[in-house]
Amino acid sequence: MESRQYFDTVAPQWDNLREGFFSEAVRERAFDAAGTVAGNLAADIGAGSGFVTEGLLKRGLRVIAVDRSEAMLEEMRRKFGEGGAVEYRIGEAESLPVAGGSADYVFANMYLHHVESPPAAIREMTRILKPGGKLIITDLDRHDFDFLRTEHCDRWMGFDRPDVARWFAEAGLVDVKIDCVGENCCAASQSGCGKAAVSIFVASGMKI
Ligand SMILES: C[S@@+](CC[C@H](N)C(=O)[O-])C[C@H]1O[C@@H](n2cnc3c(N)ncnc32)[C@H](O)[C@@H]1O
Repeated sequence: MESRQYFDTVAPQWDNLREGFFSEAVRERAFDAAGTVAGNLAADIGAGSGFVTEGLLKRGLRVIAVDRSEAMLEEMRRKFGEGGAVEYRIGEAESLPVAGGSADYVFANMYLHHVESPPAAIREMTRILKPGGKLIITDLDRHDFDFLRTEHCDRWMGFDRPDVARWFAEAGLVDVKIDCVGENCCAASQSGCGKAAVSIFVASGMKI
């Protein structure tokens, strides 16, 4: 199955699936790295059914949630409604539907390993940040669990942290830090290929 079709199909079950993969500690770690301030504007890229958005709303932020899957955005609308602190926008990694220099923070959780070009996606997320704004990416360290590609439509088998740090720097971000979130992303194969447990990193950088 192709990635777009996969996420359209799993959208109604994504919250349950996600709970089995990783906990809310992941988004809390991302928010701590950003030092979020209530009232500020965050973009949640590859927002899915709103895992990160939900946490941002609880912290009093306004959110632009972007995803290529209309089915995922529909799940968010059902949960968070219209006319509140979230704007839902359909969009692609290469050309995000967000004005340049407009966001205080950009978050992307478990999104980077699905995009075609991670460095280009990082450049595009940096474009929409205000000067002084922060990009925070939580994603998988490099692994060799091939069933995550064949069964979960992952495009990349995680990342080497030095590559991520270089892509941040090349996008013009400074004060780049990459740390362990302190928890694994866990998934069991549906076709008998065992169980994956992959460490999660949190990468942060500031636009100058
Ligand atoms: C693994 S899910 C993560 C969802 C959410 N961030 C979470 O933590 O639960 C990846 C999301 O990225 C979206 N996505 C994948 N590739 C994309 C692209 N090229 N442009 C925009 N969204 C994309 C998918 O539709 C999916 O909702």
